[in-house]
Amino acid sequence: MTTIGTPLSPRATKVMLLGSGELGREVLIALQRLGVETIAVDRYDNAPGHQVAHHARTIAMSDADQLRALIEAERPDLVVPEIEAIATPVLEALEAEGVATVIPTARATRLTMDREGIRRLAAETLGVPTSPYRFCDSLDELRAAIDDQIGYPCVVKPVMSSSGKGQSKINGPDEVAPAWEYAMAGGRVSQTRVIVEGFVDFDYEITLLTVRARGADGNVETRFCEPIGHRQVGGDYVESWQPHPMPAAALERARQIAGAVTGDLGGQGVFGVELFVKGDQVWFSEVSPRPHDTGMVTMATQWQNEFELHARAILGLPVDTTLRSPGASAVIYGGVDAEGVVFDGVDAALRVPHTDIRLFGKPESFVTRRMGVALAYDADVEVARRNAVEAAGRVKPRAV
Ligand SMILES: Nc1ncnc2c1ncn2[C@@H]1O[C@H](COP(=O)(O)OP(=O)(O)OP(=O)(O)O)[C@@H](O)[C@H]1O
Ligand SMILES: [Mg+2]
Repeated sequence: MTTIGTPLSPRATKVMLLGSGELGREVLIALQRLGVETIAVDRYDNAPGHQVAHHARTIAMSDADQLRALIEAERPDLVVPEIEAIATPVLEALEAEGVATVIPTARATRLTMDREGIRRLAAETLGVPTSPYRFCDSLDELRAAIDDQIGYPCVVKPVMSSSGKGQSKINGPDEVAPAWEYAMAGGRVSQTRVIVEGFVDFDYEITLLTVRARGADGNVETRFCEPIGHRQVGGDYVESWQPHPMPAAALERARQIAGAVTGDLGGQGVFGVELFVKGDQVWFSEVSPRPHDTGMVTMATQWQNEFELHARAILGLPVDTTLRSPGASAVIYGGVDAEGVVFDGVDAALRVPHTDIRLFGKPESFVTRRMGVALAYDADVEVARRNAVEAAGRVKPRAV
């Protein structure tokens, strides 16, 4: 049975979000609507989620001592990581000590923050198809891995990085050294380990949002949202749409893979399973043990968007992954480096049929920082895509 208390009272149900960007903000809003007391944590003041939570805290979440001190002081019922750059050993320790319940599990957050942990689990333990890969700790090892096993083209990525940082495609021997240098500069923490992957010549890539939530009998069940198609530029998503049409055999395969990986990671909540598809063939790429950026489209397409699904699943409530309408999302970029920007053209954007926008309220804009998203629904997913892109383009951030 799930019981929820009254916020700001001694019996409040308290949830702490570690990371309070645009995805965390929507989870916080969903939790607020269910009467949960929320604590938003980020590394800088006035982060998007800070602005909508009961409590806002600013700490370095990669610092083990700061993270432990905050969780011990606040004693939330649930700790919900929203980003990868967290001192995950502390989460494992606090979970083992019975101090915190980590979503979906502390082990899942540790395995997925590092490309090596999740790749070895998926490919070597679970036997799920992935691109061929090797881990390398030097330029010489990288050269040897490509020559002996991986071949060209291939992709090099720091083991600890996200949003395409430090990642490059190598087409021939001349590009190996620059790719190594780029990976060394782009990793999240100073480390020298990279993964080199064979390039998968996929037809398209999808995010399969997978939800682990309690059923009526109290057991955790796995549910799938409709596949989300997306377009990546420089490792960052620029457009997503749902549903992405898929042959039945490929969809079945995708669900099997997503079920196997999320089943092993365990716990409750939403997972964003990234898959490559060619014909009926499906490869596992990676997984977020939390809502996924490409899943922002679900704010226009599902009865319960991915943030509401996450909030409900982690609280032990039932979930409904049904599609309401096909739709699309398109990212609104900062376009300028400035603090306290204004957004012109919001009215024009919302005149595009069946659209909506979210502006994240980030205190500082960068040229390629995601500052908002345009959403569109339409019976025809291609029309929704065009409208989302049109609406996003009409919003013009400006320095003042
Ligand atoms: N082996 C590969 N073959 C072909 N394309 C790839 C391969 N690996 C990555 N890509 C492309 O690069 C994109 C980003 O890769 P990946 O998801 O591994 O990086 P990331 O830094 O974790 O990105 P994000 O944080 O945005 O998910 C993929 O969505 C895909 O388009
Ligand atoms: Mg990815």
